[in-house]
Amino acid sequence: MALVNVIPAVPLETRLAALEQTSLLRFMTCGSVDDGKSTLIGRLLYDSKMIFDDQLAALEEDSKRFGTRGGAIDFALLVDGLAAEREQGITIDVAYRYFATGKRKFIVADTPGHEQYTRNMVTGASTADAAVILVDARQGVVTQTRRHSYLIALVGIRSVVLAVNKMDLVDFSQAVFDKIVADYQAFGEKIGLASFLAIPISALEGDNVTRCSASTPWYDGPTLLSHLESLTIADRKQSLDFRFWVQWVNRAGPDFRGFAGTVSSGKVKRGDTVRLAPSGRISSVTRILGPDGDLDEAAADQSVTLTLAHEIDVARGDLLSTPDASPGLSDQFEVTLVWMADRPMLPGRSYWLKIGTRTVSAIVTDLKYVVNVNTLEHTAAKTLELNGIGICNIGLGQAVPFDAYADNHETGGFILIDRMTNATVGAGMILFALRRSQNIHWQSVDIDRAARAGLKHQKPAILWFTGLSGAGKSTIANLVEKRLHIAGKHTYMLDGDNVRHGLNRDLGFTDADRVENIRRIGEVAKLMVDAGLIVMVSFISPFRSERRMARELVAPGEFIEIYVNTPLALAESRDPKGLYKRARRGEIKNFTGIDSPYEPPEEPEIALDTSRLSAEEAAHTVIAKLIEFGIVAAV
Ligand code: ADX
Repeated sequence: MALVNVIPAVPLETRLAALEQTSLLRFMTCGSVDDGKSTLIGRLLYDSKMIFDDQLAALEEDSKRFGTRGGAIDFALLVDGLAAEREQGITIDVAYRYFATGKRKFIVADTPGHEQYTRNMVTGASTADAAVILVDARQGVVTQTRRHSYLIALVGIRSVVLAVNKMDLVDFSQAVFDKIVADYQAFGEKIGLASFLAIPISALEGDNVTRCSASTPWYDGPTLLSHLESLTIADRKQSLDFRFWVQWVNRAGPDFRGFAGTVSSGKVKRGDTVRLAPSGRISSVTRILGPDGDLDEAAADQSVTLTLAHEIDVARGDLLSTPDASPGLSDQFEVTLVWMADRPMLPGRSYWLKIGTRTVSAIVTDLKYVVNVNTLEHTAAKTLELNGIGICNIGLGQAVPFDAYADNHETGGFILIDRMTNATVGAGMILFALRRSQNIHWQSVDIDRAARAGLKHQKPAILWFTGLSGAGKSTIANLVEKRLHIAGKHTYMLDGDNVRHGLNRDLGFTDADRVENIRRIGEVAKLMVDAGLIVMVSFISPFRSERRMARELVAPGEFIEIYVNTPLALAESRDPKGLYKRARRGEIKNFTGIDSPYEPPEEPEIALDTSRLSAEEAAHTVIAKLIEFGIVAAV
């Protein structure tokens, strides 16, 4: 393939070789559907002479077929490479494009313009050094502009260009331009976007994109390209304190133990003293191994293996840092959370949180408010929906080393992962650690669960009955409890209908409330196991996620999941409380099995098919299994 032969004197190889020496700027473009992003990027690619002959031929051909410019080159087609996008006339995912000039290499993240793609926006933004926000001169600052700018400020991009496009359509009017800039300035101040450069452009005609426009004599700033070429890339990562998340421990030989990972920020030199978090141990760096052998030092973004002078315990997810400016350690934070999944975030549900290379369990303990990015208003909410941005408190299963996101993105940013599907469902930024976790310590007690259970001559356990309303959970649990009681066992019964009159009387039947209902019951059941009891739990508990969470609160073998499997039609025909009839008439909302889901257990310890078993037979089956599992001796 040959490059478009515009500069014949300089062979491609020479140009590419020269580029090796130049710096790289990653920037993102954002704007609404018709603001002309694709045209702008196409124009940059075209004018930087970085397209190939065959691409140009395809572009000319496509311009005739799909183009909007009467057969003349439609630059947007160079960028909107996907047929689906062309047909819909929109850009649908983050696309990365590469181009270069004599001065610099560029990677453009082209993020989609329409509402539901906050997720892509955050992903594209997270690696960008600069952002170009396009507005249509005829529209000015619109909702999308505000939304994108808010996200840009949120993820901490400092270099922002406001490209006021389609100036040709407003007769290159300075008054129009000045008004837009003033509007944007006012909004920018509210969201903490300190400074930006505004440029009047016409992406279509090329005015002030790659060449100064004769139509804007009142504008004396740089063209967009020359501005992007000269932007100093605030190499923040390099100038920050040293941080290194250990990715894996390399035991290449009997005498070698190295810690492999990528330098997250700052620099490390051979001989440097380092501190390991969370253990707090101090050591020094003896070797830094790169792909081609030993190095004297390594800086941010370099992948290396470090060896330390001392035999200290180091594991994946540990963080090495400089000892005089080390990270904090906490298990509770106030964070900004951006939700990226179709299923809403439910406070109380347990997710995995991944910060650096460390993964721990996490629960949103409090959704304080949701930010309306269009108006910047704060609204109260119980859940965070797709693309929602919320300020939350989160609690972690273990303390993690961290910095505030504002100080270091690598140690202050995290993602949340769904525990059932392993999909990334949220991205977050640590605002600060909550003090309260630092002031509350576990109180150690001398009488422990073994002592309490020993006195009762029993093994504590949770018998967790799950199934539809009317499945027979409480009836069977009641029979099981009677049998255990007669055999001299100490038991307790937690029943949905009863607990909802007391401890959980503030909760209804939305997904969020059910999650909280089960979270509390899981915690109460755990306390009862600590007290040495055999606890019967009889709740619909429709979600796998919360049943798993309850399971993880106690030791392996202590949680017996009992699936009371009754087909919906059968439960509905029994309808002991007349609730199904009312739900069918629409008088009860969110009724399990009707307009609220039930997720059956995948691997319950005990499954009871109540269409074949009577309640007595089912109870008998449970007791037999408890004997088999060694929880009770023959009863
Ligand atoms: S759970 O889903 O949060 O586990 P829980 O077991 O506490 O539910 O409560 C279920 C009981 O509440 C049912 O047996 C029924 O008597 C009553 N109930 C009232 N409204 C509903 C509803 N919308 N869905 C399910 N059960 C309901």
